[in-house]
Amino acid sequence: MRQAGRYLKEYRALRRRFSFLEMCQNPAIAAEVTLQPVEKFKLDAAIIFSDILIPLAPMGAGFEFAKGEGPVFHHPLREMKDVERLRVIDPEEEVPFLFEAIRLVRRKLDGRLPLIGFSGAPFTLASYLIEGGHSRDYIRTKTMMYRSPQVWDLLMKKISDVLVQYLKAQIRAGVQALQIFDSWVGCLSPEDYGEFVYPYSKRVLSSLGREVPVIHFGTSTSALLPLMKKAGGDVIGVDWRIDLDEAWERIGYDVGIQGNLDPVVLFGPLSLIRKEVKRILKKASGRPGHIFNLGHGILPETPVEHVSALIDIVHEYSSGLKHGRA
Ligand code: CP3
Repeated sequence: MRQAGRYLKEYRALRRRFSFLEMCQNPAIAAEVTLQPVEKFKLDAAIIFSDILIPLAPMGAGFEFAKGEGPVFHHPLREMKDVERLRVIDPEEEVPFLFEAIRLVRRKLDGRLPLIGFSGAPFTLASYLIEGGHSRDYIRTKTMMYRSPQVWDLLMKKISDVLVQYLKAQIRAGVQALQIFDSWVGCLSPEDYGEFVYPYSKRVLSSLGREVPVIHFGTSTSALLPLMKKAGGDVIGVDWRIDLDEAWERIGYDVGIQGNLDPVVLFGPLSLIRKEVKRILKKASGRPGHIFNLGHGILPETPVEHVSALIDIVHEYSSGLKHGRA
Protein backbone atom coordinates (compact mmCIF):
# COMPACT_ATOMS: atom_id res chain seq x y z
CA MET A 1 0.00 0.00 0.00
CA ARG A 2 2.51 2.62 -1.23
CA GLN A 3 5.33 1.69 1.08
CA ALA A 4 7.77 3.96 -0.71
CA GLY A 5 7.12 7.63 -1.19
CA ARG A 6 7.35 11.17 0.01
CA TYR A 7 6.99 10.43 3.75
CA LEU A 8 10.57 9.03 3.57
CA LYS A 9 13.47 11.51 3.50
CA GLU A 10 15.52 9.01 1.45
CA TYR A 11 12.77 9.12 -1.22
CA ARG A 12 12.55 12.92 -1.16
CA ALA A 13 16.32 13.17 -1.63
CA LEU A 14 16.15 11.12 -4.86
CA ARG A 15 12.98 12.87 -5.93
CA ARG A 16 14.78 16.23 -5.92
CA ARG A 17 17.02 14.89 -8.72
CA PHE A 18 14.44 13.04 -10.84
CA SER A 19 10.78 13.36 -11.77
CA PHE A 20 8.42 10.65 -10.50
CA LEU A 21 8.15 9.12 -13.97
CA GLU A 22 11.93 9.14 -14.45
CA MET A 23 12.21 7.23 -11.19
CA CYS A 24 9.69 4.62 -12.37
CA GLN A 25 11.43 4.27 -15.74
CA ASN A 26 14.94 3.76 -14.39
CA PRO A 27 15.29 0.16 -13.10
CA ALA A 28 18.22 0.93 -10.79
CA ILE A 29 16.40 3.83 -9.14
CA ALA A 30 13.08 1.97 -8.99
CA ALA A 31 14.90 -0.93 -7.29
CA GLU A 32 16.60 1.42 -4.84
CA VAL A 33 13.28 3.11 -3.95
CA THR A 34 11.58 -0.28 -3.53
CA LEU A 35 14.21 -1.26 -0.98
CA GLN A 36 14.21 2.01 1.01
CA PRO A 37 11.27 1.07 3.28
CA VAL A 38 12.48 -2.54 3.48
CA GLU A 39 15.85 -1.42 4.86
CA LYS A 40 14.31 1.08 7.25
CA PHE A 41 11.46 -0.97 8.75
CA LYS A 42 10.84 -4.59 9.75
CA LEU A 43 8.36 -5.21 6.95
CA ASP A 44 7.08 -8.62 5.90
CA ALA A 45 7.03 -7.94 2.13
CA ALA A 46 8.30 -5.48 -0.46
CA ILE A 47 6.16 -3.92 -3.22
CA ILE A 48 7.78 -2.94 -6.49
CA PHE A 49 8.07 0.82 -7.00
CA SER A 50 5.99 1.81 -10.03
CA ASP A 51 2.51 3.19 -10.63
CA ILE A 52 -0.81 1.83 -11.85
CA LEU A 53 -0.76 4.42 -14.66
CA ILE A 54 2.56 3.27 -16.18
CA PRO A 55 1.09 0.98 -18.91
CA LEU A 56 -1.33 3.71 -20.09
CA ALA A 57 1.22 6.05 -21.71
CA PRO A 58 2.47 3.53 -24.31
CA MET A 59 -1.18 2.65 -25.05
CA GLY A 60 -1.42 6.21 -26.36
CA ALA A 61 -2.73 7.99 -23.25
CA GLY A 62 0.03 10.39 -22.28
CA PHE A 63 -0.14 12.00 -18.83
CA GLU A 64 1.94 13.99 -16.42
CA PHE A 65 1.94 14.57 -12.70
CA ALA A 66 1.04 18.23 -12.34
CA LYS A 67 2.33 19.73 -9.11
CA GLY A 68 -0.11 19.14 -6.26
CA GLU A 69 -2.83 17.88 -8.60
CA GLY A 70 -2.00 14.24 -9.16
CA PRO A 71 -2.06 12.73 -12.65
CA VAL A 72 -3.41 14.76 -15.58
CA PHE A 73 -4.08 13.12 -18.96
CA HIS A 74 -3.48 15.29 -22.03
CA HIS A 75 -6.42 13.92 -24.08
CA PRO A 76 -9.14 12.25 -21.99
CA LEU A 77 -11.11 9.57 -23.89
CA ARG A 78 -14.63 10.61 -24.80
CA GLU A 79 -15.84 8.72 -27.86
CA MET A 80 -15.44 5.58 -29.95
CA LYS A 81 -12.66 6.97 -32.13
CA ASP A 82 -10.57 7.80 -29.02
CA VAL A 83 -10.94 4.24 -27.75
CA GLU A 84 -10.29 2.73 -31.19
CA ARG A 85 -6.97 4.59 -31.27
CA LEU A 86 -5.77 3.02 -27.98
CA ARG A 87 -3.03 0.48 -28.61
CA VAL A 88 -3.10 -2.99 -27.03
CA ILE A 89 0.58 -3.04 -26.14
CA ASP A 90 3.05 -5.83 -25.49
CA PRO A 91 4.23 -4.79 -21.99
CA GLU A 92 7.62 -6.52 -22.26
CA GLU A 93 8.35 -4.39 -25.35
CA GLU A 94 6.90 -1.12 -24.07
CA VAL A 95 7.67 -1.03 -20.33
CA PRO A 96 10.80 -3.22 -20.08
CA PHE A 97 12.09 -1.08 -17.17
CA LEU A 98 9.43 -2.50 -14.84
CA PHE A 99 10.45 -6.10 -15.43
CA GLU A 100 14.12 -5.22 -15.14
CA ALA A 101 13.40 -3.49 -11.81
CA ILE A 102 11.57 -6.62 -10.58
CA ARG A 103 14.54 -8.85 -11.53
CA LEU A 104 16.97 -6.45 -9.83
CA VAL A 105 14.94 -6.29 -6.60
CA ARG A 106 14.57 -10.08 -6.47
CA ARG A 107 18.37 -10.41 -6.74
CA LYS A 108 18.95 -7.78 -4.04
CA LEU A 109 16.35 -9.25 -1.68
CA ASP A 110 17.96 -12.65 -2.15
CA GLY A 111 15.00 -14.47 -0.62
CA ARG A 112 14.84 -12.30 2.52
CA LEU A 113 11.32 -11.04 1.75
CA PRO A 114 8.71 -11.76 -0.92
CA LEU A 115 8.17 -9.15 -3.65
CA ILE A 116 4.67 -7.98 -4.61
CA GLY A 117 3.86 -6.76 -8.12
CA PHE A 118 0.73 -4.79 -9.00
CA SER A 119 -1.55 -3.14 -11.51
CA GLY A 120 -4.69 -1.07 -11.51
CA ALA A 121 -7.99 -2.85 -12.15
CA PRO A 122 -9.86 -2.16 -15.41
CA PHE A 123 -12.43 0.20 -13.85
CA THR A 124 -9.95 2.39 -11.96
CA LEU A 125 -7.70 2.71 -15.02
CA ALA A 126 -10.69 3.46 -17.29
CA SER A 127 -11.80 6.19 -14.89
CA TYR A 128 -8.41 7.95 -15.18
CA LEU A 129 -8.50 7.70 -18.98
CA ILE A 130 -12.03 9.11 -19.23
CA GLU A 131 -11.99 11.73 -16.45
CA GLY A 132 -8.44 12.82 -17.30
CA GLY A 133 -7.41 12.62 -13.64
CA HIS A 134 -8.91 12.11 -10.23
CA SER A 135 -12.66 12.69 -9.95
CA ARG A 136 -15.25 13.18 -7.26
CA ASP A 137 -18.43 12.02 -8.96
CA TYR A 138 -17.16 10.00 -11.94
CA ILE A 139 -19.80 11.65 -14.11
CA ARG A 140 -18.00 11.15 -17.42
CA THR A 141 -17.08 7.55 -16.62
CA LYS A 142 -20.63 6.62 -15.66
CA THR A 143 -22.05 8.58 -18.59
CA MET A 144 -19.98 6.43 -20.95
CA MET A 145 -21.23 3.27 -19.21
CA TYR A 146 -24.87 4.35 -19.41
CA ARG A 147 -24.97 6.05 -22.82
CA SER A 148 -22.28 4.33 -24.86
CA PRO A 149 -22.05 0.75 -23.59
CA GLN A 150 -20.22 -0.36 -26.75
CA VAL A 151 -17.52 2.25 -26.29
CA TRP A 152 -17.23 1.23 -22.62
CA ASP A 153 -17.03 -2.46 -23.59
CA LEU A 154 -14.23 -1.87 -26.10
CA LEU A 155 -12.30 0.29 -23.63
CA MET A 156 -12.61 -2.25 -20.80
CA LYS A 157 -11.64 -5.11 -23.16
CA LYS A 158 -8.53 -3.29 -24.37
CA ILE A 159 -7.43 -2.42 -20.82
CA SER A 160 -8.12 -5.99 -19.63
CA ASP A 161 -6.11 -7.48 -22.52
CA VAL A 162 -3.12 -5.30 -21.61
CA LEU A 163 -3.47 -6.09 -17.89
CA VAL A 164 -3.44 -9.84 -18.44
CA GLN A 165 -0.11 -9.58 -20.30
CA TYR A 166 1.25 -6.95 -17.90
CA LEU A 167 0.56 -9.09 -14.82
CA LYS A 168 1.76 -12.36 -16.38
CA ALA A 169 4.99 -10.64 -17.40
CA GLN A 170 5.48 -9.50 -13.78
CA ILE A 171 5.09 -13.12 -12.64
CA ARG A 172 7.68 -14.22 -15.24
CA ALA A 173 10.04 -11.47 -14.02
CA GLY A 174 9.78 -12.85 -10.49
CA VAL A 175 7.03 -11.25 -8.37
CA GLN A 176 5.77 -13.63 -5.69
CA ALA A 177 2.32 -12.05 -5.21
CA LEU A 178 0.18 -9.55 -7.10
CA GLN A 179 -2.12 -6.79 -5.95
CA ILE A 180 -4.87 -5.41 -8.20
CA PHE A 181 -5.91 -1.89 -7.19
CA ASP A 182 -9.54 -0.98 -7.93
CA SER A 183 -9.14 2.11 -5.78
CA TRP A 184 -12.15 4.09 -7.03
CA VAL A 185 -14.68 1.31 -7.73
CA GLY A 186 -16.56 2.21 -4.52
CA CYS A 187 -18.36 4.97 -6.46
CA LEU A 188 -20.53 2.30 -8.12
CA SER A 189 -23.74 0.59 -7.06
CA PRO A 190 -23.62 -3.22 -6.84
CA GLU A 191 -25.91 -3.30 -9.90
CA ASP A 192 -23.48 -1.23 -11.99
CA TYR A 193 -20.47 -3.15 -10.68
CA GLY A 194 -22.13 -6.40 -11.75
CA GLU A 195 -22.91 -5.18 -15.24
CA PHE A 196 -20.02 -2.86 -16.12
CA VAL A 197 -17.02 -4.01 -14.09
CA TYR A 198 -17.39 -7.58 -12.87
CA PRO A 199 -17.00 -9.35 -16.26
CA TYR A 200 -13.72 -7.55 -17.00
CA SER A 201 -12.18 -7.84 -13.52
CA LYS A 202 -13.14 -11.51 -13.51
CA ARG A 203 -11.46 -12.04 -16.86
CA VAL A 204 -8.22 -10.47 -15.68
CA LEU A 205 -8.20 -12.24 -12.32
CA SER A 206 -9.09 -15.67 -13.67
CA SER A 207 -6.46 -15.47 -16.41
CA LEU A 208 -3.67 -15.36 -13.82
CA GLY A 209 -3.92 -19.01 -12.81
CA ARG A 210 -2.72 -20.11 -9.41
CA GLU A 211 0.98 -19.42 -9.73
CA VAL A 212 1.09 -16.56 -7.20
CA PRO A 213 -1.47 -15.31 -4.65
CA VAL A 214 -3.50 -12.29 -5.76
CA ILE A 215 -4.84 -9.48 -3.57
CA HIS A 216 -7.92 -7.69 -4.93
CA PHE A 217 -8.23 -4.25 -3.33
CA GLY A 218 -10.73 -1.40 -3.39
CA THR A 219 -11.95 1.43 -1.16
CA SER A 220 -15.53 2.21 -0.05
CA THR A 221 -16.46 -1.28 -1.20
CA SER A 222 -18.64 -2.44 1.74
CA ALA A 223 -21.59 -3.13 -0.56
CA LEU A 224 -19.47 -4.62 -3.34
CA LEU A 225 -17.47 -7.18 -1.34
CA PRO A 226 -19.37 -10.34 -2.35
CA LEU A 227 -19.12 -9.38 -6.04
CA MET A 228 -15.44 -8.48 -5.78
CA LYS A 229 -14.77 -11.84 -4.15
CA LYS A 230 -16.66 -13.56 -6.96
CA ALA A 231 -14.59 -11.65 -9.52
CA GLY A 232 -11.48 -13.22 -8.01
CA GLY A 233 -8.49 -12.94 -5.72
CA ASP A 234 -7.06 -15.06 -2.93
CA VAL A 235 -7.21 -12.07 -0.59
CA ILE A 236 -9.63 -9.13 -0.63
CA GLY A 237 -8.21 -5.77 0.51
CA VAL A 238 -10.55 -3.46 2.43
CA ASP A 239 -10.35 0.08 3.81
CA TRP A 240 -11.29 1.25 7.32
CA ARG A 241 -14.87 2.25 6.44
CA ILE A 242 -16.03 -1.25 7.39
CA ASP A 243 -15.07 -3.34 10.42
CA LEU A 244 -12.67 -6.12 9.49
CA ASP A 245 -14.85 -8.88 10.97
CA GLU A 246 -17.93 -7.67 9.14
CA ALA A 247 -16.00 -7.44 5.87
CA TRP A 248 -14.60 -10.95 6.31
CA GLU A 249 -18.02 -12.35 7.04
CA ARG A 250 -19.40 -10.73 3.87
CA ILE A 251 -16.52 -12.06 1.77
CA GLY A 252 -16.49 -15.52 3.31
CA TYR A 253 -13.70 -17.22 5.25
CA ASP A 254 -12.51 -19.24 2.25
CA VAL A 255 -10.45 -16.23 1.13
CA GLY A 256 -8.00 -14.06 3.03
CA ILE A 257 -8.45 -10.41 3.98
CA GLN A 258 -6.06 -7.46 3.96
CA GLY A 259 -6.46 -4.30 5.99
CA ASN A 260 -7.56 -2.08 7.42
CA LEU A 261 -5.98 0.73 9.44
CA ASP A 262 -6.99 4.25 8.47
CA PRO A 263 -3.69 5.83 7.29
CA VAL A 264 -4.63 9.01 9.15
CA VAL A 265 -4.47 7.10 12.48
CA LEU A 266 -0.68 7.32 11.98
CA PHE A 267 -1.00 11.07 12.64
CA GLY A 268 -2.50 10.36 16.08
CA PRO A 269 -0.65 9.59 19.32
CA LEU A 270 1.05 6.21 19.81
CA SER A 271 -1.66 5.24 22.29
CA LEU A 272 -4.26 5.53 19.50
CA ILE A 273 -2.14 3.52 17.07
CA ARG A 274 -1.75 0.77 19.68
CA LYS A 275 -5.48 0.76 20.43
CA GLU A 276 -6.43 0.56 16.75
CA VAL A 277 -3.97 -2.26 15.98
CA LYS A 278 -5.34 -4.24 18.92
CA ARG A 279 -8.89 -3.62 17.75
CA ILE A 280 -8.19 -4.77 14.18
CA LEU A 281 -6.25 -7.87 15.27
CA LYS A 282 -9.04 -8.76 17.67
CA LYS A 283 -11.51 -8.61 14.81
CA ALA A 284 -9.30 -10.94 12.78
CA SER A 285 -9.46 -13.28 15.84
CA GLY A 286 -6.21 -15.03 15.02
CA ARG A 287 -7.70 -16.65 11.92
CA PRO A 288 -5.12 -17.56 9.29
CA GLY A 289 -5.33 -15.38 6.19
CA HIS A 290 -5.27 -11.86 7.63
CA ILE A 291 -2.64 -9.51 6.18
CA PHE A 292 -2.33 -6.45 8.39
CA ASN A 293 -2.06 -3.32 6.25
CA LEU A 294 -3.23 0.25 5.94
CA GLY A 295 -6.69 0.60 4.39
CA HIS A 296 -5.28 2.92 1.71
CA GLY A 297 -1.98 4.53 0.66
CA ILE A 298 0.32 6.11 3.21
CA LEU A 299 0.16 9.93 3.14
CA PRO A 300 3.17 12.16 2.40
CA GLU A 301 3.17 13.97 5.78
CA THR A 302 3.00 10.76 7.87
CA PRO A 303 5.41 10.85 10.86
CA VAL A 304 8.01 8.26 9.98
CA GLU A 305 8.60 7.16 13.59
CA HIS A 306 4.91 6.25 13.80
CA VAL A 307 5.35 3.89 10.86
CA SER A 308 8.13 1.96 12.61
CA ALA A 309 6.12 1.98 15.84
CA LEU A 310 3.09 0.60 13.96
CA ILE A 311 5.11 -2.25 12.51
CA ASP A 312 6.54 -3.17 15.91
CA ILE A 313 3.11 -3.05 17.54
CA VAL A 314 1.60 -5.28 14.83
CA HIS A 315 4.37 -7.83 15.27
CA GLU A 316 4.12 -7.70 19.05
CA TYR A 317 0.36 -8.28 19.15
CA SER A 318 0.09 -10.72 16.26
CA SER A 319 2.75 -13.02 17.72
CA GLY A 320 0.81 -12.76 21.00
CA LEU A 321 -2.32 -13.88 19.20
CA LYS A 322 -0.52 -16.84 17.70
CA HIS A 323 0.44 -17.97 21.18
CA GLY A 324 -3.05 -17.42 22.49
CA ARG A 325 -2.07 -14.55 24.79
CA ALA A 326 -4.23 -11.76 23.33
O1 CP3 B 1 6.87 1.40 -3.78
C1 CP3 B 1 5.69 1.30 -3.46
O2 CP3 B 1 5.31 1.31 -2.29
C2 CP3 B 1 4.66 1.17 -4.57
C3 CP3 B 1 4.21 2.44 -4.92
C4 CP3 B 1 2.92 2.78 -5.57
C5 CP3 B 1 2.79 4.06 -6.17
N1 CP3 B 1 1.55 4.13 -6.73
C6 CP3 B 1 3.85 5.07 -6.19
C7 CP3 B 1 3.49 6.49 -6.25
C8 CP3 B 1 1.70 2.10 -5.75
C9 CP3 B 1 1.30 0.72 -5.27
C10 CP3 B 1 0.85 2.97 -6.49
C11 CP3 B 1 -0.51 2.62 -6.91
C12 CP3 B 1 -1.41 3.70 -7.32
N2 CP3 B 1 -1.12 4.82 -8.10
C13 CP3 B 1 -2.81 3.71 -7.08
C14 CP3 B 1 -3.55 2.61 -6.36
C15 CP3 B 1 -3.37 2.72 -4.89
C16 CP3 B 1 -4.15 3.85 -4.28
O3 CP3 B 1 -3.50 4.62 -3.55
O4 CP3 B 1 -5.34 3.94 -4.49
C17 CP3 B 1 -3.33 4.87 -7.67
C18 CP3 B 1 -4.78 5.31 -7.65
C19 CP3 B 1 -2.26 5.55 -8.32
C20 CP3 B 1 -2.33 6.81 -9.13
C21 CP3 B 1 -1.48 7.86 -8.57
N3 CP3 B 1 -0.10 7.86 -8.56
C22 CP3 B 1 -1.90 9.06 -7.97
C23 CP3 B 1 -3.34 9.45 -7.74
C24 CP3 B 1 -0.75 9.77 -7.60
C25 CP3 B 1 -0.64 11.14 -7.02
C26 CP3 B 1 -0.86 11.06 -5.57
C27 CP3 B 1 -0.05 12.06 -4.85
O5 CP3 B 1 -0.03 11.88 -3.63
O6 CP3 B 1 0.56 12.96 -5.46
C28 CP3 B 1 0.37 8.99 -7.95
C29 CP3 B 1 1.78 9.35 -7.73
C30 CP3 B 1 2.59 8.41 -6.93
N4 CP3 B 1 2.57 7.06 -7.09
C31 CP3 B 1 3.57 8.76 -5.95
C32 CP3 B 1 4.17 7.55 -5.55
C33 CP3 B 1 5.30 7.37 -4.59
C34 CP3 B 1 3.96 10.18 -5.53
C35 CP3 B 1 4.81 10.73 -6.63
C36 CP3 B 1 5.73 11.84 -6.24
O7 CP3 B 1 6.85 11.54 -5.78
O8 CP3 B 1 5.39 12.99 -6.49
